[in-house]
Amino acid sequence: MLKNTDDAWGIVAKAFHWVFAVIILAQLVLGKVAEEAQVSPQKLDLFVWHKSIGVTILLLLTLRIAWRLVNTPPKAVAGVARWEHWAARAGHILLYTLMIAVPLSGWWVSDTSRIPFEAFWLVPVPDFLEANRDASQVAEVVHGILTKALLVLIVVHIVAALRHHFILGNDTLRRMSPFRR
Ligand code: HEM
Ligand code: HEM
Repeated sequence: MLKNTDDAWGIVAKAFHWVFAVIILAQLVLGKVAEEAQVSPQKLDLFVWHKSIGVTILLLLTLRIAWRLVNTPPKAVAGVARWEHWAARAGHILLYTLMIAVPLSGWWVSDTSRIPFEAFWLVPVPDFLEANRDASQVAEVVHGILTKALLVLIVVHIVAALRHHFILGNDTLRRMSPFRR
């Protein structure tokens, strides 16, 4: 079952969800590690990885969003209150918004800095803006705030999923499980 049905997520939506969950969490850790590393050639390499994975996320996201738009999500899980279902939907839209805004703001940092960047040391990434120290510093603050907002929202999202599973005992988590058809 590739597509979603009324009561289940399809294989493609599940694959996107779990691949993104892993790479977004890894990317949050990598950004922090690169940021905290002492100035060294390794720090620069960590940032090339961070930026390369970040632009890859942005590209993959266009596919995920296209799939999401042509593929209606399942209906509310039995036993979940209407308001809660819509609150979850709103949370998901915010997650998507931040998944776009975070890499775009990272690109803004990179684009306004003086450091040339080729994704995976191979693919030149278009440079739209002139190097500008002030703009780069504003972009760094914005990227930092947005990554923190994304982290908070992910924690709320995971706690909500676990609450549905372990406290309310409904099918919310089970139907996103990669091991269940
Ligand atoms: C252990 C970690 C995670 C668990 C247990 C989890 C659980 C779930 C579950 C159960 C759903 C389905 C909700 C429903 O049917 O209404 C869901 C949807 C979703 N999750 Fe997660 N999630 C996790 C991590 C993440 C991460 C890191 C992100 C990315 C930022 C994320 C983004 C989303 C989005 C955007 C949806 C909505 C899917 C759609 O409408 O296409 N999740 N998650
Ligand atoms: C989903 C994608 C991304 C996530 C989750 C993410 C996450 C992070 C995190 C957590 C930090 C450390 C922030 C801090 O401690 O203040 C960071 C820093 C940074 N990120 Fe990203 N990032 C993403 C995409 C990108 C992209 C696409 C680029 C560039 C093309 C980028 C460039 C940077 C740069 C240059 C810094 C250092 C900023 C500074 O010096 O303050 N990031 N990122």
